[in-house]
Amino acid sequence: MKKAIITSALPYANGEIHLGHVASTYLPADVTTRYLKLNDVEAYYFCASDDFGTPILIQSEKEGKTPADYVAHWNKRDYDDFTAFGIDFDFFYKTSSNENIQFVQQVFNKLNSAGHIYEKEIIQFYCSNDKKFLPDRYVKGICPYCNAVDQYSDLCESCGRVPEEISEPKCSICGQTPTKEKTTHFFFKLKNFSDLLSKWLEENKNLQKDVKKYVQNWIKSGLIDWDITRDISWGVPIPLDDAKGRVFYGWFDNHLAYISTAIKFLNDKGIDGKEFWNSADIYHFIGKDISYHHYLFLPAMRLGMDSEYKLPDFIPTRGHLTLQSKKISKSRNWYIGLKQFLQYYPADYLRYYLVSINPYSQDDLNFDWDEFTNRINSELIGNLGNFVNRALGFTKKAFNGIIPETENFDEKDLEAQAKIKSLSGELGILMDQNHLDRALKKIMEFSSFFNQYFQHKEPWKNESGTANCVFLSVNAARSMAIALFPFLPESSQKIWEQIGISGNVNQNKWNSISDISLNAGHILGNVSPIFVKVEPEDIAKYKKLLGPTI
Ligand code: MF3
Ligand code: ZN
Repeated sequence: MKKAIITSALPYANGEIHLGHVASTYLPADVTTRYLKLNDVEAYYFCASDDFGTPILIQSEKEGKTPADYVAHWNKRDYDDFTAFGIDFDFFYKTSSNENIQFVQQVFNKLNSAGHIYEKEIIQFYCSNDKKFLPDRYVKGICPYCNAVDQYSDLCESCGRVPEEISEPKCSICGQTPTKEKTTHFFFKLKNFSDLLSKWLEENKNLQKDVKKYVQNWIKSGLIDWDITRDISWGVPIPLDDAKGRVFYGWFDNHLAYISTAIKFLNDKGIDGKEFWNSADIYHFIGKDISYHHYLFLPAMRLGMDSEYKLPDFIPTRGHLTLQSKKISKSRNWYIGLKQFLQYYPADYLRYYLVSINPYSQDDLNFDWDEFTNRINSELIGNLGNFVNRALGFTKKAFNGIIPETENFDEKDLEAQAKIKSLSGELGILMDQNHLDRALKKIMEFSSFFNQYFQHKEPWKNESGTANCVFLSVNAARSMAIALFPFLPESSQKIWEQIGISGNVNQNKWNSISDISLNAGHILGNVSPIFVKVEPEDIAKYKKLLGPTI
């Protein structure tokens, strides 16, 4: 049996999941995993909260909580929100687990003995009031490039650049001007991996071409070694005697939780986790903002351990979601929390909309309330919901819910039959290539074909051909239920039950989408509309809840 491990970028345990997060990583990864499982792959979907790092420590201090309590809160909340959205992790763990801490320390020791780590004295901001070194977000100041005020020392949010040195630095805890002190940091020799990384990028045909291109350009313009040390208390301790009180940079430890989480889950299940990892297809779903880390840093660290754990086969990288064509911003209240959205509409509405606007590329995508309304009302309900309800409803009314005996197929029937026969293969090709949006569109085209077929056959006239129309239409609804499962798990199960087939829709095999397995005499379940319309008046209200237009 083929094997696969799927991960999606680990969410920082530092605030709620919003539509931007799910659109680019969690939803595509979930749809893919559900598909692989139907398609006879032993697939597992792993994720974890990203618990360490300076911003989390600062926020927990502000809220007067221990960092451990603070991240435990967000770990649970994120998991609950994902679950409500139908994101079905096999295991959701945390980067601060004992397993991950131990694993990170082992990896460091291996990289260190292989000569990929060195120590160097550097100058860092230090606050004599707080008695702390001040990395990253601990220092605020003016961006030397664009003069934007109130920017963090590790990133200017206004111009997107990383300042070499922030102007007018201030400690972000107490506001005092910090001094500069010497400290010793560990560095990972990323530079040494340029050739190996180029080779890996070159050879891995599954990586997106456009991402590859600019990663190769980064390599050409010269990689810089990574400072993997932070002088803070919240992180994985560096396992060396002369490194007391210092921890790893969050990006050293977080992606290692892909591996440690998988190993923990698999070993607990009695499977040899390491062997499974190395014989599986590895997928890391990410948003484009973290491609540097996933195409360079992560593979370099694995290469540095002689590929003891294999490198990713797929890194599906997608663009960012904008909201009503504007950049999502939590501080300006220009965002929609996942939990909040799910109070308005079922998970499947959002899943449908977000997959349908999300191509397999790095282009940004846009959430638009009016487009959402349109797509749900005219596509999901007007096309798909309508067909299913029509086919099943008519069978109920005209045939007491029992599929009738067929007669000889005419040309239209043969065409309809051929559509069912070819559906699983055609969809499978698109799913294998990660074109989830195109696969969903194909299901909608299938539905629209059957709407027309039904219309053309006019079964309500009860002339010859009616039985064939009912027979093929109910079978088409069955095919659609299975094909929809990765995308709309709840609705596909509803359709399944209305057709009157026992068990769960996900117990089927992907290939069986193209079976015509419901025979004359099959009895339907209870039939009712699957979806409820989106009302423009409600949408008008929800639009007003967004922050002031900027
Ligand atoms: N927490 C990071 C972010 O949101 C992503 C971590 S992904 C991992 O940008 F690879 F590091 F695990
Ligand atoms: Zn201070």
